[in-house]
Amino acid sequence: MNILAIESSCDETSAAVVRDGRDVLSNIISSQIDIHKRYGGVVPEIASRKHIEAIDLVIDEALEKAGMNFEKIDAIAVTYGPGLVGALLVGLSEAKALAFALDKPLIAVHHIEGHIAANYIQNREWKPPFICLVVSGGHTNIVKVTNYNKFEILGSTRDDAAGEAFDKVARAIGLPYPGGPNVQRMAEKGNEDAIDFPRAMMDEGYDFSFSGVKSAVLNYINKCNMTGEEYIKEDIAASFQKAVTEVLVKKTIEACRKEGMKKVAVAGGVSANKYLREKLREECERNGFEFNVPDIVLCTDNAAMIGSAAFYEYKNGNTADMSVNAYPSLRLGEK
Ligand code: KG4
Ligand code: ZN
Repeated sequence: MNILAIESSCDETSAAVVRDGRDVLSNIISSQIDIHKRYGGVVPEIASRKHIEAIDLVIDEALEKAGMNFEKIDAIAVTYGPGLVGALLVGLSEAKALAFALDKPLIAVHHIEGHIAANYIQNREWKPPFICLVVSGGHTNIVKVTNYNKFEILGSTRDDAAGEAFDKVARAIGLPYPGGPNVQRMAEKGNEDAIDFPRAMMDEGYDFSFSGVKSAVLNYINKCNMTGEEYIKEDIAASFQKAVTEVLVKKTIEACRKEGMKKVAVAGGVSANKYLREKLREECERNGFEFNVPDIVLCTDNAAMIGSAAFYEYKNGNTADMSVNAYPSLRLGEK
């Protein structure tokens, strides 16, 4: 089954052709980062306009790269939430129009379900059940994936998402948007034990809180500025990254052990972080858990992951009709 998938929930316009949920025939991603960088974050109105400009070209390229045309496509898949509503609507309207005009099934996909499905592309043998740490710009969850379409959220952030914390700390130390990859690069040159930033809610179940560590970084910088003390940005980046990673890894491993699971996966933009990937891998090995992590390009927003999740939604009988809307704060597992 060849699925043409579309993703436009934030600042990437992407289209992909995915066969049977696992084979990526094409995955075209047009990023708007250079435009939003000027404003220090994603400007929703600009994002929507740029999606409109890019979407047809991106779809054409995805079909061409896959050696396909619309006739050979069996279904159209699209992200319908969560995300920026204007941005989501561009992809959703395009997908609806294509499904209607071509008379093909339409499959509406949850963005986070897509992130989790990136693991099925990465590893053909990977299947539920497993524990998935979901860390993106808008989400931080520990999810028990009991089946392709069944999710149990064991823990969530009570305030900032992990990616949001990376982006805010980046701004505080003068790094451009998107902060995550820049903080990682700077951290590589710093001392991760230089500053003891707080590890929030370490022993309180599976929920997270990242606003405290973010404030601690800001306070540290303010204090240095006021006392005229010099601070080393590399040390701040490395110590912050270590503090966040320690909490994420500890809770993920604990969830896997307590839920009696044997496998751990990771998903979402922050899972592109090298330090987090290494620490999670080490801890999984130490605990005898199988570990899977998608390639970097499959961690951040892309349509291939939506095409994979769509295949399993379709197999489960979940298709959408023309009345489907965009839902900016759609919860995982909610239809
Ligand atoms: O999944 P994603 O591409 O978009 C959302 O669904 O939110 O995640 C974007 C987030 C941003 O906050 C970005 O800074 C973060 O992922 N990110 C990283 C890295 N690459 C992207 N954070 C830490 N280290 C990275 N290497
Ligand atoms: Zn995402």
